[in-house]
Amino acid sequence: MTKRVALAFSGGLDTTVCVPVLEEEYGYDEVIGVTVDVGQPAEEFEEARETAEALDLEHHVVEAKEEFVDLCFDAVRANADYQGYPLGTALARPVIAKAILRVAQEEGCDGIAHGCTGKGNDQLRFEAVWRASDLEVIAPVREMGMTRDWEIEYAAERNLPVQAGNEGTWSIDTNLWSRSIEGGDLEEPDYVPGEEIYNWTTAPSGETEEIEIEFENGYPVALNGEAKDPIELTEELNELAGSYGVGRTDMMEDRMLGLKVRENYEHPAATTLLNAHEGLEALVLTKEERDFKRQVDDEWSQKGYEGLVDGPLVAALEGFIEETQTKVTGSVTIRFEGGQARVVGRDSDYAVYSADAASFNTETVGKITQEDATGVAKYHGYQDRIAAQAKKAAEAKKQVSTDGGDEE
Ligand code: ARG
Repeated sequence: MTKRVALAFSGGLDTTVCVPVLEEEYGYDEVIGVTVDVGQPAEEFEEARETAEALDLEHHVVEAKEEFVDLCFDAVRANADYQGYPLGTALARPVIAKAILRVAQEEGCDGIAHGCTGKGNDQLRFEAVWRASDLEVIAPVREMGMTRDWEIEYAAERNLPVQAGNEGTWSIDTNLWSRSIEGGDLEEPDYVPGEEIYNWTTAPSGETEEIEIEFENGYPVALNGEAKDPIELTEELNELAGSYGVGRTDMMEDRMLGLKVRENYEHPAATTLLNAHEGLEALVLTKEERDFKRQVDDEWSQKGYEGLVDGPLVAALEGFIEETQTKVTGSVTIRFEGGQARVVGRDSDYAVYSADAASFNTETVGKITQEDATGVAKYHGYQDRIAAQAKKAAEAKKQVSTDGGDEE
């Protein structure tokens, strides 16, 4: 019987090399390349298609943009970021992994493979999904300890269709939610990148613009009064906020295996929507809800980073999130200014806010008079004052006993 394997295929050097390797080293008769659409630019599909054709590889392109953007919008409800990075690559991986697994199963494959190295997070995120199946999971780059130089030589020897410019200076990973730039000079934490690494954002010019984003149950639904579906909204905001230089991150990232890596990201829409969402939550949630939700959000983000959004913990966290989001309906005004997407206004019927109560111009808070706060003020900091007194007294006592001890 012919042995078939489905390969996560981008047409880049790693996955191109994997095609003959899966046949020659792993004994597969047929390799199926699968490229999953999570909003990469058109050139990437072009590259994948051309390379697949040149390799005579059966190639499937699978649509998953909607599934992906829905997950990104769940991430907005969880105010999700990992060490400041809005999780674009991380959230895309389980979506991609599931899409490839579906193809592998439909096509009667025996194995499923990726071209990730043994150093990064993506191997873990892919395999967390795939190992639930009984397919053979194969990671040729990791298992054969391939280096870039070895791959280049191997490709040259076999005349594999890797274009010279294929890999460029950096390793880029793009989807609807973020563009990640790593490798090359950028590996050095002290290397200051120039404008050339950016593609989605232009350096802030000093110009500003205000926009209004509407939310329903924590989901962004409209821009400047016009209803938008999630893909449209994200694409438009990437353009617009990107033109004001919003959403650049340059960070040291602690990967799952423990490696600390320098990473650069662009994510204009994600930054705008996350800021707006948090701004609206600040108006409609109580302090207690906000304090507790921060912990829930942190857990969600951690699982999002690990590619484990389909696990039971996330489902349970989302139970809490769902309950809080029933009030996150309203609108937020964002000003793009100096590379920031700053909340400058918010409005909701669910506001836990009374202008009358907080105002300097009214004497009472409903039926509560200002005098009523006197008792509270008397108690406030009570333990601190007792602690200070006790410390002073204890030290004086210690002093007396040591002085006394000296005399003897
Ligand atoms: N380090 C990030 C993550 O694990 C992004 C990796 C993106 N990959 C790339 N080749 N640029 O989520």
